[in-house]
Amino acid sequence: MFTQSSARVAQPVLLPDFDRAFGLPAFHTVADAVAQYDGDNAIHVLYPRTISDAAKTFLTGFPGRVLYAVKANPHPAILRILAAAGVRHFDIASIHEIDLVRSLIPDAELYLMHPVKSRQTIRHAYAQGVRHLAFDCWQELAKIRQETDSASDLTLHLRLAVPAGHAAMPLAGKFGAGFDEAIDCLRAARPLCQRLGVSFHVGSQCMDVEDYRRTLAYVRKLVDQAGVPIDSIDCGGGFPVAYPDMTPPPLKAYFDTIKTALAHEGFSDLEILGEPGRALCAEGGSTLARVELRKGQDLYLNDGSYGSLYDAANFAWKFPIKRVGDHDPNPSDVQEYRFFGPTCDSSDVMEGPFALPLDIKAGDWIEIGHLGAYGQALATNFNGFQSDTTVAILS
Ligand SMILES: Cc1ncc(COP(=O)(O)O)c(C=O)c1O
Repeated sequence: MFTQSSARVAQPVLLPDFDRAFGLPAFHTVADAVAQYDGDNAIHVLYPRTISDAAKTFLTGFPGRVLYAVKANPHPAILRILAAAGVRHFDIASIHEIDLVRSLIPDAELYLMHPVKSRQTIRHAYAQGVRHLAFDCWQELAKIRQETDSASDLTLHLRLAVPAGHAAMPLAGKFGAGFDEAIDCLRAARPLCQRLGVSFHVGSQCMDVEDYRRTLAYVRKLVDQAGVPIDSIDCGGGFPVAYPDMTPPPLKAYFDTIKTALAHEGFSDLEILGEPGRALCAEGGSTLARVELRKGQDLYLNDGSYGSLYDAANFAWKFPIKRVGDHDPNPSDVQEYRFFGPTCDSSDVMEGPFALPLDIKAGDWIEIGHLGAYGQALATNFNGFQSDTTVAILS
């Protein structure tokens, strides 16, 4: 989609080898990328420095081992950026994710934290050196035992069901052992594995640090009642980023709360893990979408709910938005628009409202920000509109 000469940065760049190191066409600005683009679909954008900074914030601030939840965005460039920033541990869920991370980062440690896996996935994972596996019931424990020939070198993580708290995307209801089942599972698993831990997920984009404190108090109660020692606690993901209409506490408040709660509950000696997805890559990615048609306050774009705007369509999420080439971060001459995506499906609509300049017109490009997590990763090829173009912006 870019010619060889246009895809590379000609003159001084702040980070001179990003375009080589991460394998992406690299530009100074999104306007430069749009100007050089001769494709027809939307463009995915990564900001390597933002992603790298987010990783460093986590690696230095989170009181435990940091696993990147690959599902948030498995783009090879993201994995390379995170690896270069020092991330070595990856939460994976499928054979594809195992092979992807292994091929790019051969020394990565992989954690199969999906509580319900196919037998083939378990076999493949074990053959690929995966020794951390999650389960949330005795049936899954039995499957893991069978498919690993009762391996004695496993670390098993019991996924707990935790009530929906203050997450914008609750994850309660599908996975996790309830209190009594968890006690049975801990007692059953303890003699069968080298190391035993518990894991939980408070829900994605968790807006209240207290959800982590409450859950760690719950873990204390559970472990005491089970009467078996555990080796680790995986605090899951859920760490939030700011979106329009959603201003969470700073990440440091989450790290401090978890640290304090671990000490208070007597867990300071355990191995602590976290599985951030959104917090590592949401702010470091955006989508450039072109206006194909304007009808009043409706804008028809070349990206939509089957592209990277799933959350905007299905959960009415807002994202930072601006017209490419506009320099004023808060332009005054704006009005509210609704977006339609490019597919023939009439549910391909993002109500917004999204504030953009009064004079926006067909042919203009819009940058929709904070889509580095669960944006590009959710895009489908429905109606043939999937974009295979990702660029790096070296700002
Ligand atoms: C098991 C597991 N770990 C980690 C994550 C990442 O969560 P987040 O992106 O909220 O940090 C998810 C998200 O669904 C998950 O299911």
